Amino acid sequence: MRRKFVAGNWKMNCSLSEAQQLAQDICTSLEKEEISVDVAICPTFLCLSSICSLVKDFQKQGGSDIGVGAQNLHWENKGAFTGEVSAPMLHDMGCSYAIIGHSERRTLFGETNEAVSKKALAALQSGLLPIVCIGETLEERENEKTEEVLRLQLEGSLAGLSPAQVEACTIAYEPVWAIGTGKTASPEMAQTVHAFIRNYLTQKYTSAIAQSIRIQYGGSVKPDNIRELINQPDIDGALVGGASLKADSFSEIIKLCSL
Ligand code: PGA
Repeated sequence: MRRKFVAGNWKMNCSLSEAQQLAQDICTSLEKEEISVDVAICPTFLCLSSICSLVKDFQKQGGSDIGVGAQNLHWENKGAFTGEVSAPMLHDMGCSYAIIGHSERRTLFGETNEAVSKKALAALQSGLLPIVCIGETLEERENEKTEEVLRLQLEGSLAGLSPAQVEACTIAYEPVWAIGTGKTASPEMAQTVHAFIRNYLTQKYTSAIAQSIRIQYGGSVKPDNIRELINQPDIDGALVGGASLKADSFSEIIKLCSL
């Protein structure tokens, strides 16, 4: 059985004090809960150090284990790459995860599948677990190109990873047209795509690997739509944007996934 995994992508939001408050409020609202899913929060680089110590303290006091993830990284370990941050630096800081190839990075910052695969490999080599994002645009869906686009993204983004490394990844299926728009894929529509992704992984690797990889859904996930989504057999959690910026809604999503 795959353990469900809920991650909050805070994107470019929250000053340091706001991030600390949000993380603290999430910890407080999960304090007395039996959480049976993996949880991660992904603040900006600027806040990672502080949030890593905050969640560590929470766990020391008996709270649940909340992982911290970066939203991006560079594939080189160090060097003349002004403005970039590397995987060993993030791991050293206490991060456990890294979101790689989010559609905003692909579309706004020109990140290619090749870059995504180099980043995923760098993350794994430093002990970070990648959340590799894929998803089609509205135009691609309307032109019935969804499967073709996803196949190319999977192929390119996981190129160069050994089967064991692929197994350590989480795949986040995020239809671009559903991100931040309030439009969610229907549970059936999302399940069809998740099953397609798992089938691709079965063909390309092995059934055992495909069965153990978690596939998150992302795109306007909220407390009022998570139950239907999470009940689908191939949806193993969520990558949450907007609703992860409020402690109440994020913890509600986690609780609903733990039922
Ligand atoms: P959203 O973002 O939940 O605000 O749609 C999801 C994401 O971009 O990961």
